[in-house]
Amino acid sequence: MPTRIEDLKLGWIGTGRMGYAMAERLAKGSCDIAVWNRTKAKADPLAKHGAKVVNQLEELSTRDIVFCMVSTYDDVKEVIGKVLAKGRPKMVVECSSISLEGSAELREMLKKKKIEYLAAPVSGNAKVIKAGKLTFVVSGPKSAYKTARPYLDMMGSGSSYVGEGELARIVKICHNVFLGVVIQSMCEITILAQKAGVPRHAFLDFLNKSVMGSMFTRYKTPALVNLDFHVTFTPELLRKDIDLGLSAGREFGVPMPLTSITRDMVQTLIGNGYAEQDFSALLLLQAKASGIELKPEHVEVGDGL
Ligand SMILES: NC(=O)c1ccc[n+]([C@@H]2O[C@H](COP(=O)([O-])OP(=O)(O)OC[C@H]3O[C@@H](n4cnc5c(N)ncnc54)[C@H](OP(=O)(O)O)[C@@H]3O)[C@@H](O)[C@H]2O)c1
Repeated sequence: MPTRIEDLKLGWIGTGRMGYAMAERLAKGSCDIAVWNRTKAKADPLAKHGAKVVNQLEELSTRDIVFCMVSTYDDVKEVIGKVLAKGRPKMVVECSSISLEGSAELREMLKKKKIEYLAAPVSGNAKVIKAGKLTFVVSGPKSAYKTARPYLDMMGSGSSYVGEGELARIVKICHNVFLGVVIQSMCEITILAQKAGVPRHAFLDFLNKSVMGSMFTRYKTPALVNLDFHVTFTPELLRKDIDLGLSAGREFGVPMPLTSITRDMVQTLIGNGYAEQDFSALLLLQAKASGIELKPEHVEVGDGL
């Protein structure tokens, strides 16, 4: 397969929060890209950046590389199945956060049709993508990675190739288990500091400057300080990833005590009616359980992006 960016025809499935921002970077980078989304209206604005927004998934079956960014493995199976019904792209790059088993089943399905396949889940939210800081973890044939890499680079700040098969899936699952545990921990200590008398912005300012601060703690700080829980990542998608982690822990015989507790906290968040808010609304549960009423601090804090 040729490797010049302008030579390959790209297909894109899924323009939700993540998929839209990712496809937008490829379209703005002058790639030849055809985009499909179940709710077409969400994909339509990409046309102004040169993307071709198609009505039928089947229209992507003649593209060289089809990228997929939907929700769960069941969704992936459904959309890729439809793409394959009437033809076959040369390669599929699947970026959703899905299980090892689902990814392996997809690989088998594609192998039978001689389609190259990369598992390429990501780290970052839509704002991170806009800031050019999305990262990929990739597994599959090295030659396929070589072909897809320039496009991955256009969508973010790089990719880590971790080997053959579904290895990228376990890396992403571990990453998101960590994401869940870290946000729960951040919420606990922020409320502890506040109840002891420290304003949240002051506490988080120190945390972010310390050795424990990270790109993640920094970009979650505005939400925790000013209580803006517009969704970047839903509690239900986080629960899915934690469940994938717990099931991998069972499969490989690895105890995951912190993950189990965090799973219960995320479930409690969903059960309390916060499914449509950002997962960092865990702060609200923590405050309630600590007997304090939270108010926005109205302090301008940066997100570090
Ligand atoms: N948000 C984050 O911070 C983040 C970070 C890293 C990884 N992820 C992972 O990335 C994936 C997408 O997340 P997101 O936040 O972008 O989710 P989202 O905003 O809910 O978008 C989901 C996308 O999947 C499509 N979809 C879902 N089920 C479908 C089906 N059965 N058939 C066709 N299309 C279907 C949706 O189409 P409609 O528009 O028609 O609903 C939408 O385009 C998930 O696997 C998530 O775990 C998310």
